Amino acid sequence: MNDKPVRLGFCLTGSFCTFEAALRQMARCRELGYELVPVFSYHAATLDTRFGKAEDFLRRAAEIAGRPVITTIQEAEPIGPGDLTDLMLVAPCTGNTLAKLNLAITDTPVTMAVKSHLRRGRPVILAVSTNDALKGTARNLGGLLAREHFYFVPFRQDAPNGKPASLVADFQQIPETLEAALAGRQIQPVMLGPAS
Ligand SMILES: Cc1cc2nc3c(=O)[nH]c(=O)nc-3n(C[C@H](O)[C@H](O)[C@H](O)COP(=O)(O)O)c2cc1C
Repeated sequence: MNDKPVRLGFCLTGSFCTFEAALRQMARCRELGYELVPVFSYHAATLDTRFGKAEDFLRRAAEIAGRPVITTIQEAEPIGPGDLTDLMLVAPCTGNTLAKLNLAITDTPVTMAVKSHLRRGRPVILAVSTNDALKGTARNLGGLLAREHFYFVPFRQDAPNGKPASLVADFQQIPETLEAALAGRQIQPVMLGPAS
């Protein structure tokens, strides 16, 4: 990594079953020397689910990042104008947020963070996690795969028989994906075989 820390926007959206994996990678990114700017979608920041309480995830993310989590559109808006991020990661990225990003809908702290960051033409990295990736979400995934500045954490069908339309990114590959995206490159293969 360069002498100057790379500033990484780390956004979580409401795929709650992957929050533990996301926080593990957030901690790994901090260890690797990234300066973290954490952002939660409204739903990530407010919904308690069987996977945990929103306030606990918010507190843990703030502790890892060493700064408060951005949870409003107003807080996310200055990211581009203030030149606050070099990379913007959405991990996990829901089908909902994928759809909004594909259609340029900006009505959550995360979609605002991405839009604001993109104003400087810098890389956005998505770690997809959604049960309908190969059905209802497929057009949005395809739209973003074809879009400049968007990169993908390699993903796989996590349960081809039980959930045939589901795709989940391999969160462990987040650091390599970020490093490549910073150099303008998509790591390959972007589509992985079934987990063994
Ligand atoms: C327990 C639970 C788990 C969920 N898991 C997922 C998921 O893995 N992927 C997904 O796309 N949506 C999932 N959802 C639905 C999203 O949270 C919902 O679409 C929400 O509107 C997403 O908003 P956001 O993208 O702004 O965070 C889940 C919802 C709940 C309550």
